[in-house]
Amino acid sequence: MKFFVDTAEIDAIAELNDLGMVDGVTTNPSLIMKSGRDIIEVTKEICALVDGPVSAEVVATEADAMIEEGLKLAEIAENIAIKVPLTWAGLKACKAFSERGHMVNVTLCFSANQALLAAKAGASFISPFIGRLDDVNLDGMELISDIRQIYDNYDFQTEILAASIRTVNHVTESALIGADVITAPPGVIKKLADHPLTDKGLEAFLADWAKTGQKIV
Ligand code: G3P
Repeated sequence: MKFFVDTAEIDAIAELNDLGMVDGVTTNPSLIMKSGRDIIEVTKEICALVDGPVSAEVVATEADAMIEEGLKLAEIAENIAIKVPLTWAGLKACKAFSERGHMVNVTLCFSANQALLAAKAGASFISPFIGRLDDVNLDGMELISDIRQIYDNYDFQTEILAASIRTVNHVTESALIGADVITAPPGVIKKLADHPLTDKGLEAFLADWAKTGQKIV
């Protein structure tokens, strides 16, 4: 399973990237806003730091304007994945980008039918939003599972990029279902290392070690 980091914060990306934990990055207009940075500048820095796909999102709502914006974003670097919303205009833009050989991430996916359309339009990635479905009492994981089955039934190559991940359990469940990629905020990725029994066990080992009076170096 690939790990993408869902942020436009350079320091946080760099920290995880140094550990080999970053297979790509996803950004969106809200994350760019939070970073306080210029979209072109910050995206260029991220692309220079990370080898894998870096999603940069268009903000136009009509296909022609989306295509113009997407092509400008794609000029930033080879590893740009142009991100478009799952609307008819977005699907039209997706088709145009994929025919030109660009990676496309189709975002704001909330149904299996939407995911089916994105695959047919040549998307490299489909981004179902787990947390936002959970927010309205729907089952985000069920959607991941349905898309997995549909893509496997027809051998679609579009990768399932489980997004809007808020908890470590979302990561585990996505991995069990077989999502190709998860994108999560840096804080959630770092929490994957935590376990209370690890902390407790380490505390006991260190207490016993202190009683030996020994040193390793
Ligand atoms: O990857 C999509 C993500 O940025 C949305 O997450 O937590 O705002 O629903 P959230």
